[in-house]
Amino acid sequence: MHAERRPFIGGNWKMNTDLASGVELADAVLAALAAAGVEESVDAAVYPPFPYLFTVGRTLGHSAVLLGAQDCSADVSGAFTGQVSAGMLCDVGCRSVIIGHSERRHGLGEDDELLHEKLAIALESGLVAVLCVGETLSERDDGRAEAVVAHQLRGCFGTLKAETVERVVVAYEPVWAIGTGRTASPEDAQAMHASIRRVLADLYDSRFAARTRIIYGGSVNAKNARAIFDGPDIDGGLIGGASLKADDFASICRAAAEAWSAAGGH
Ligand code: 13P
Repeated sequence: MHAERRPFIGGNWKMNTDLASGVELADAVLAALAAAGVEESVDAAVYPPFPYLFTVGRTLGHSAVLLGAQDCSADVSGAFTGQVSAGMLCDVGCRSVIIGHSERRHGLGEDDELLHEKLAIALESGLVAVLCVGETLSERDDGRAEAVVAHQLRGCFGTLKAETVERVVVAYEPVWAIGTGRTASPEDAQAMHASIRRVLADLYDSRFAARTRIIYGGSVNAKNARAIFDGPDIDGGLIGGASLKADDFASICRAAAEAWSAAGGH
């Protein structure tokens, strides 16, 4: 953590919960965050499945927890069967969206060109865009992890102007760490986050790089979170499995708040 960047913790529920348990989870997250006393020091967000967004959003009410979606279309409207536009997300109360999760990059073939379009439209719609990048195991083993991630960043940011990218949070999620129980070591995660920040400085400028939050995702849990968050370039996490348990999610938020406080944040 760094004193100047308020931590961001997102709970990516993926294709889990049903309507009733999603609402229960949202309720429990609110209660657990209040009990943990972290509302003042952490930006927390949850990303439920599309059909539950509206109802979960009502449960979140006027709380500080951001409602987010797991994807959006690259188009504004029209003949795109099955797609959901960024405008529709705003309409049902979303304030954030995940772009380019590896389960979409690799499972559904989304490439940087498409993700650039999605990022542009999400930002234009006023959403906080959590842009995911990350290398596969073979890319890491080949020593290409930083180059692969830099290439993803350049492709996704593309021609976007500095004034439009203020609301981006970058999520580094090594593909081999997602849902595997195998996290990047705190040292490897910190090294990659520092490298991402250098790419952002090169793409825009050092001030943009210094204020942009870069969060880590991949098998973060209540036990390992603090060691990861102590990295000076690690500004929070994107949490999968552990976000489905309100207490674990709140513990991870508390770890972020403690790491931030130790770094001199409020
Ligand atoms: P896990 O925390 O389950 O590894 O998932 C990480 C992730 O993909 C968050 O987007």
